[in-house]
Amino acid sequence: MLPKSESLSPLPQRLEHDLEELARIRDPESGGWTRTMFSEPYRASREWIRSRMVEAGLDVHVDGAGNIVGVLAGRRPGAPSLVTGSHTDTVESGGRFDGAVGVLGALEMVRQLNEHDVRLERDLLVVDFLGEESNDFGLSCLGSRALAGELVAADLDRHDHEGRRLGDRYSAFGLDPAGVLGAVWSRSRPLHGYVELHVEQGPLLEERGAPIGVVTAIAGIERLLATFAGRPDHAGTMPMGDRRDALVAAAEAVLAVRREGCGAPVHGVATTSRLISEPGSANVVPATVRMHAEMRSVDTAWLSSATRRLADEIRAKAEGYGVDVDVQWSTDNVSVPASGEVHEVVSGAADALGIAWEAVPSGATHDAVHMARLCPMGMIFVPSRGGRSHCPDEWTELEHIVTGVQVLAATVLDMDRRTR
Ligand code: GLV
Ligand code: MN
Ligand code: MN
Repeated sequence: MLPKSESLSPLPQRLEHDLEELARIRDPESGGWTRTMFSEPYRASREWIRSRMVEAGLDVHVDGAGNIVGVLAGRRPGAPSLVTGSHTDTVESGGRFDGAVGVLGALEMVRQLNEHDVRLERDLLVVDFLGEESNDFGLSCLGSRALAGELVAADLDRHDHEGRRLGDRYSAFGLDPAGVLGAVWSRSRPLHGYVELHVEQGPLLEERGAPIGVVTAIAGIERLLATFAGRPDHAGTMPMGDRRDALVAAAEAVLAVRREGCGAPVHGVATTSRLISEPGSANVVPATVRMHAEMRSVDTAWLSSATRRLADEIRAKAEGYGVDVDVQWSTDNVSVPASGEVHEVVSGAADALGIAWEAVPSGATHDAVHMARLCPMGMIFVPSRGGRSHCPDEWTELEHIVTGVQVLAATVLDMDRRTR
């Protein structure tokens, strides 16, 4: 007989302790909390996570793609498994909660299950996915992407801005690149469902006064690389009207990116993150600029029309300044809806616990995008103070994290019993 999910009460002190311990492992040279993919602090934090998983009673291994997988064996060994988890890498100078809450919250849930002698029917896999955050290789969610079979051999030949090859970075981190490509789960393992607990990273829950968000869909991401080719000239002598200034054309493009983001009817955002201007001398008119930007939306139709409109506007503006521009878009991930069934289970779990919830879209991307290729997927959000994230000020109240773990546990118990 399974206990009521209400009796599984995550311990705030234990969660707080784990969050604090993990937060200690960070790059001392960078601001905020920095554990970027393949870095030494990330390696150290993964060792710590691994040992915490073992202490929580999980059977732990690192798969070919570098994901740390802790298995809580169920009663029925052949039954399709349940999966939960998140990530423990961070952006440069990020916060303490993005990703960490989903991994450490899942561990607290496992401890609760074990302490209450609750045996699930199916195996529960708790995963710390490798390298979720965006990186210089232009691919986020490397670990879950590999599991879903979305990482291909050509991706290993991608290079970062220092000219390092992704395949070589895997090797230096102790992962065989062939093993990374071979780590696809769908071939070997039937899955019952995936549910991820995460901080919202936006302001909606706080604005609406709801402690829980049930995710409706995760935004698609289109990344832009625009290369502007103007002409280098003497900055003191070339008359203004005769210049072909690549940086001025790029500046127009930055404003066009913002305008498109502001024009989305449902949900959409657009951000320019980097301009690299050459030659970069005070007395030379900028000759070339590389501009990196992205657009995101859960509205697929808007996203594809907005990328086309933006490309046209960038070209037209550049032409006006006598600058050539090459515009390239690449899809990081397409927008993915959450499963209706998992949505129903999560919201039903919150209702049963008497916890208010709101249906919200996710503008941030998650490993859940790729897990959705393998099984029904859902996400549980907890509020982020001031909607802030990817910065040292990122904060989520412990009480909200505890509530999130309660809803996660109730969701897992309900999904475990369901057959399909
Ligand atoms: C990851 O947090 C992303 O949304 O890029
Ligand atoms: Mn995250
Ligand atoms: Mn993030």
